[in-house]
Amino acid sequence: MSSTMIAPSVLAADFANLQRDIEMVNESQADWFHIDIMDGVFVPNISFGMPVLKAISEHANKTIDTHLMIVDPDRYIKTFAELGSNILTVHYEACTHLHRTLQAIKAEGMKAGVALNPHTSITVLEDVIRDIDMVCLMSVNPGFGGQKFIEQTYEKVRKLRRMINDNDANTMIEIDGGVTDVNAKNLVDAGADVLVAGSFVFKSADPLTTIADLKTISNL
Ligand code: DX5
Ligand code: ZN
Repeated sequence: MSSTMIAPSVLAADFANLQRDIEMVNESQADWFHIDIMDGVFVPNISFGMPVLKAISEHANKTIDTHLMIVDPDRYIKTFAELGSNILTVHYEACTHLHRTLQAIKAEGMKAGVALNPHTSITVLEDVIRDIDMVCLMSVNPGFGGQKFIEQTYEKVRKLRRMINDNDANTMIEIDGGVTDVNAKNLVDAGADVLVAGSFVFKSADPLTTIADLKTISNL
């Protein structure tokens, strides 16, 4: 079995010391950088945009997993590829023509991800699951870091894992929101492949050790 991946969410980093925090992740046991782009329309918050991602890409030496919480994401697929994204995740709720969007992401050489809000059933993805490289299950309502994990997520992960297996798909499952050392192992046991962690990593006293611990716990 391949090992569980850890993706620290840069949203919780210290933006006045961004280079330091990026280098910390570079040196850590983390697998990916998780980058949250919010437009103030799809979600009630604005995070950061292209110039900041460009600066992150210049220092980051790991996979860049970009999570777009924006309306009409098709407008910026090419831009995010040029900015160094390796995986581009769009929200199901923001895409009228999801199949077309997935093809457009792949045409730019990126892996295609689809995020689902907590209220959205996994069943809406059944007919495109084989076209999706990663499903990101939101375990909080998107828009903010530091929120409480929604317990219903475990059941959703189990159902999604079943759906992926039943369809012979090769889709990864990512969990985003409220991930800590308390729920990490249960999420992996339920079928998660990638754990995003923002506050739990960056607000801890020793982020490097926190990432290492999360990696260990998730792979027990
Ligand atoms: C929420 C973002 C998350 C967030 C996770 O809208 O998509 O990636 O940064 O932060 P924590 O781990 O603090 O819940
Ligand atoms: Zn995210």
